[in-house]
Amino acid sequence: IKVKEIIMPADKVYTIAHRGASGYAPENTIPAFELAIDMKTDYIELDIQLTKDHVPVVIHDGTVNRTTNAKGYVKDFTLEQISKFDAGSWFNEQYPMFARDKYVDLRIPTLKEVFERFGKEVDYMIEIKDPTSNSNIEALLNEEILNYDLSAHVAIHSFSEASLRRFHSINPAVPLYQIVWYDFPVYKISESYVNRLKTYAVGISPNFQKINAAYVAQAKNSGLKVFPYTVNYQVNMDKAVIWGVDGVHTNFPDRFNEVIKNN
Ligand code: G3P
Ligand code: CA
Repeated sequence: IKVKEIIMPADKVYTIAHRGASGYAPENTIPAFELAIDMKTDYIELDIQLTKDHVPVVIHDGTVNRTTNAKGYVKDFTLEQISKFDAGSWFNEQYPMFARDKYVDLRIPTLKEVFERFGKEVDYMIEIKDPTSNSNIEALLNEEILNYDLSAHVAIHSFSEASLRRFHSINPAVPLYQIVWYDFPVYKISESYVNRLKTYAVGISPNFQKINAAYVAQAKNSGLKVFPYTVNYQVNMDKAVIWGVDGVHTNFPDRFNEVIKNN
């Protein structure tokens, strides 16, 4: 097939700010989300896990080691304990060119705080992390979504099909995306996998580096939305848009918005 034949431009291309505008501010913090919204992102992407006392908090890793000044597993801290850690200074040390005083001594936000702060101002792409050690996380997440009346402003994604299926059975109104990681180039999704996905999800989020235009076209022809991750360089953003993706996850939402404008 010729490239021209497989390209299907998307009607609307979404910008998904991966862990907020995490190229410029400490990931998964209120300032990273504020900055992404200032940059006119469509979605803020955030990762959730449960504390020891079962409160959904916004953090990517299973431990607090990389993104705070403390050490230990998220699941071993109560909310009171985890709320004391500094979740911003690491960024200033690691990225001096983007360091700002206001990042010092930031907190790990709870999901509730994020919903409270941004409400319906933005849409949320929420990743359920490690559902095996965060049991019942789907029901707790749904409770917060309903508390803030955000069903129409939330999408959920996960590497865990089981977790997405559990969420789907709790609240089928929320669109779900299956995240997949390919080790080798993949140019086609099998029909049986498409059919399986469609029983609970509306789309697929593959790692950008291992897909191509044919993959995107085939997924879209099968009726799936395609949101590759994590696309940070302009050259790849250009490619993704030309291939017709429905959006990308990026640490630099301003850069991707420029690319959309110029394509
Ligand atoms: O954007 C997809 C992505 O969120 C999955 O990977 O590790 O950044 O959560 P990760
Ligand atoms: Ca994520």
